[in-house]
Amino acid sequence: MTELHLWLRHEVRTTERRTPIVPSDARRLVDSGVTVTVEESPQRIHPLQEYEAAGCRVAPAGSWVSAPPAAVVTGLKELPDEPAELTHRHVYFGHAYKGQPGAGDLLRRFAAGGGALFDLEYLVDDSGRRLAAFGFWAGYLGAALAVLQHRGRLAAPLTPTSKDELDAGLRPVAGDEEFTALVIGALGRSGRGARLAFLSAGVEATPWDLAETRDLDRRALLAHDVLVNAVLATTPVPPFLREQDLDAPDRRLRTVCDVTVDVGSPLNVLPVYDRVTEWTDPVRRLRARPPLDLIAIDNLPSLLPRESSADFSSALTPLLPAFGTDGAWGRCLDRFHRAQRELGIKSGGVEG
Ligand SMILES: NC(=O)c1ccc[n+]([C@@H]2O[C@H](COP(=O)([O-])OP(=O)(O)OC[C@H]3O[C@@H](n4cnc5c(N)ncnc54)[C@H](O)[C@@H]3O)[C@@H](O)[C@H]2O)c1
Repeated sequence: MTELHLWLRHEVRTTERRTPIVPSDARRLVDSGVTVTVEESPQRIHPLQEYEAAGCRVAPAGSWVSAPPAAVVTGLKELPDEPAELTHRHVYFGHAYKGQPGAGDLLRRFAAGGGALFDLEYLVDDSGRRLAAFGFWAGYLGAALAVLQHRGRLAAPLTPTSKDELDAGLRPVAGDEEFTALVIGALGRSGRGARLAFLSAGVEATPWDLAETRDLDRRALLAHDVLVNAVLATTPVPPFLREQDLDAPDRRLRTVCDVTVDVGSPLNVLPVYDRVTEWTDPVRRLRARPPLDLIAIDNLPSLLPRESSADFSSALTPLLPAFGTDGAWGRCLDRFHRAQRELGIKSGGVEG
């Protein structure tokens, strides 16, 4: 068996400070015989020196393109547009299997170079459950931003922060009015995070999951002041909110945070808006009187880069020494080949 060489790349997106492998976990990998090369990266939450001290090799930003062919290039978000041919095996979130913009081009780049995508979203156990995910912190942030907005304390633009700083802002202060909150998808990762953030703000949220939405009571939903949607929809269900619900005369609902952000998808349970909101402008007013504000940010965990990286890394690291074509990694590779076949792309390189 050849020794595993992981190559932790720099992220091209300048706001992306997270990393899939934190230095303490990199040390565990090195100690278990894995070679770990870490690229310089000005924005990564952990400085390069921490990885060096953990026994990792270092390399310039973007040098993965000339990494040894057997290196497994590891990251989180999109690759740069060049090179046109991807020759390595890549581990990251490719967002390329649901017809997303650019998906076909990316899969063709892999086919052209003979490389392969091991998409972290599809790294699942044999019952299909995700093995490493950022959901908890997405939910935590989503609820935290909703609380801050509801209390009139959300400052834009949003910038990455720490949990301590965030929690300090969540604590109720004199003059804060009490409010009610509802979390849908409450039993999932994001839902649990959202409920904990509400507790940090002194609010016990109503938890709804599949059982409570099967026969949806929209009046009960609209009777809450704040809603966090954290469902992972896999089949279409009747929407939780429709345009006419926003104009219901007895609506108490004032603040919505859609952690799920399935905007534009047939699975969208909140089809009352048509584009995400951004760090620069996190809140969109959907109704003026009475007000209804929406937060729909699709990269929430990046706002807590240290905590979310540590959490993700602790789930991913134990799986990495077994990297290959079997088990969960084999399922990832099969999914990649299926996506290529679905687009009529002839795949080369790594066999599943
Ligand atoms: N905005 C962001 O930055 C961000 C980051 C990470 C994840 N997400 C998204 O958050 C969502 C939740 O992710 P997760 O990791 O918590 O998933 P999860 O699988 O851990 O939990 C999803 C929960 O939703 C529930 N659910 C599904 N359909 C439902 C319905 N119709 N009614 C009520 N409950 C329902 C499930 O039973 C489950 O408890 C996903 O769509 C994910 O893509 C967003």
